[in-house]
Amino acid sequence: MESIRGLKRSHKAGTLREEHIGQTVTVMGWAAKVRDLGALCFIDLRDRSGICQLAFRREEDVALYEKAASVRQEFVLAAVGEVVARESANPELPTGMVEVKVRELRVLDRAKTPPIYIKDDDAVSEELRLKYRYLDLRKPRMQEMLEKRAEITRAFREFLHGEGFIEVETPYLGKPTPEGARDYLVPSRVSPGKFYALPQSPQLYKQLLMIGGTDRYYQVARCFRDEDLRANRQPDFTQVDIEMSFVTMEDVMDMNERLMASIFEQIKGIQIPRPFPRLSYADAMARFGTDKPDLRYGFEIQDLSGVAATTDFPLFTDAVEKGEWIGGINFNGLAAAYSRKKLDALLTLVKGIGASGLLWVKAEEDGLKTSFQKFLTEQAASYLTEVLALQTGDLGLILVGPRNKTLEQLGSLRVHIAQEHLTLDPDAFALCWIVDFPLFEWNEEEGRYNATHHPFTKPVDEDIPLLDTDPGKVRAEAYDIVINGDERGGGSIRIHQSELQRKIFDILQLSDQDIEERFGFFIEALQYGTPPHGGIAYGLDRFVMMLIDRSNIRDVIAFPKTQTAQDLMSDAPTPIAQVQYDELHLTARRTEGDSIAEGRE
Ligand code: AMO
Repeated sequence: MESIRGLKRSHKAGTLREEHIGQTVTVMGWAAKVRDLGALCFIDLRDRSGICQLAFRREEDVALYEKAASVRQEFVLAAVGEVVARESANPELPTGMVEVKVRELRVLDRAKTPPIYIKDDDAVSEELRLKYRYLDLRKPRMQEMLEKRAEITRAFREFLHGEGFIEVETPYLGKPTPEGARDYLVPSRVSPGKFYALPQSPQLYKQLLMIGGTDRYYQVARCFRDEDLRANRQPDFTQVDIEMSFVTMEDVMDMNERLMASIFEQIKGIQIPRPFPRLSYADAMARFGTDKPDLRYGFEIQDLSGVAATTDFPLFTDAVEKGEWIGGINFNGLAAAYSRKKLDALLTLVKGIGASGLLWVKAEEDGLKTSFQKFLTEQAASYLTEVLALQTGDLGLILVGPRNKTLEQLGSLRVHIAQEHLTLDPDAFALCWIVDFPLFEWNEEEGRYNATHHPFTKPVDEDIPLLDTDPGKVRAEAYDIVINGDERGGGSIRIHQSELQRKIFDILQLSDQDIEERFGFFIEALQYGTPPHGGIAYGLDRFVMMLIDRSNIRDVIAFPKTQTAQDLMSDAPTPIAQVQYDELHLTARRTEGDSIAEGRE
């Protein structure tokens, strides 16, 4: 192997252009491809900026030629030479007009044959990509992602800095902060039997910073949540976490609208109209069957319960008698797209999410065709035509069942059909706020209320009396920012009075001992003069996914984990050695097949 000594990289491979012709350059990178044609040898040299062609002619220097021809894929090279015009230009490559006529080649490191191809369209399994992530990261698409991600993070930082926010780092080792998931716990060696929790979010610390007088805080914060993973969830992920003092909900929302507008402008060159539309939680559920509606398309849900009065179709009449609900959506223009076979596939889909069946209506030239034709009275036909606003070519889909469940199922159907049939412009962004969330959700299993967001969220002032009489009706001063059907951020105005905070804990049925042990320090802090405050946190990973159009959260994180929270590259989590159990005062409960690592690594 050769040394880099005496060489200095003068140019990035992907930046060479015709203007460099005649210059001597030093480039360094990986051998992406080697072509030995006998008299001519070409090496495609890749670095983060792209690829340039290194050229060698046997007749000019046999030894140099032989050295070039012996280079294998992914060897690390340094080359010094003159930029010349290519004999046969490659207009596909940004550097395709030129090549480097090499006069000195050094092999800085050799490489084993890589188990994956370093190219964007390599069809290997994701498992292999994750196991060899460092090779996967060499792909242009991955490098582009890392650059974009850094650019987006910087855009958040710059805007917030410009608005007088300061970045403060809060601890990883702390006490649990409830955000609705399980905690990752870290045993303490020096305090036997005691554990730290990794933060699910910096929520408590950022509120303590407000009490501490830091009236505008932000942090690009890692958060840890042990929850069931999905395509847009990771066990450790990143939030852009923000908090401000002496503000109302309007102030926080206004600052965030300007923040969003600035990021979309900077990253995508898109002007986002302000103010953003606002939808109440109840409206979002009634119209879209979800609190994360994708507003890039219509397909709104309609209440069709009135249809029961127009026909004696038992499915409708029985449902209404049982206090159930009938709802439907007009999928405009899609009648022809849904053959019987495709409608059957939809039936399977809705059954999979708990619906008992699926009814359809097609508006044709000569009237409505339905899956319940026998019961389609004239009255029912005109009711459906009117309420669903059916026009020739439209497809109406109808579900029957308990209202909330049916709304959610219609919401899923809406998204499914939009994904199947609409070509959405990746540069179209529909932002909205969801507001007026209920402060509590009823937990059927445990027979008590849970906090819809987290227990530090302030109730709407005029609903405070309802805390004593009907907590389920209390609205929260909370807001979620939804973009293209995903929650990209959420926040609230916080409770800044200790008595109200205690009351909320009481409604959540935390015992005095529980409150004292878990939040005693926080309730005490609230008593020393707390400014009214509120904030928000953005899911940075999800934000990047949206801005660079990736559908998998693992594709926007340098070293992500699988759906079962494994790091396939390092093999974490791994068993620990018996001595570590001892040091940490832990006893392992071994199940068959488990192993405890022998000795310390
Ligand atoms: P919340 O729990 O809504 O709020 O989280 C804020 C945002 O973080 C993102 N997010 C995730 N991203 C990837 N993987 C996960 N497992 C994951 N969980 C959440 C979402 C979400 O909108 N402390 C409050 C914020 C506040 O009130 O200021 C909080 O954490 O995009």
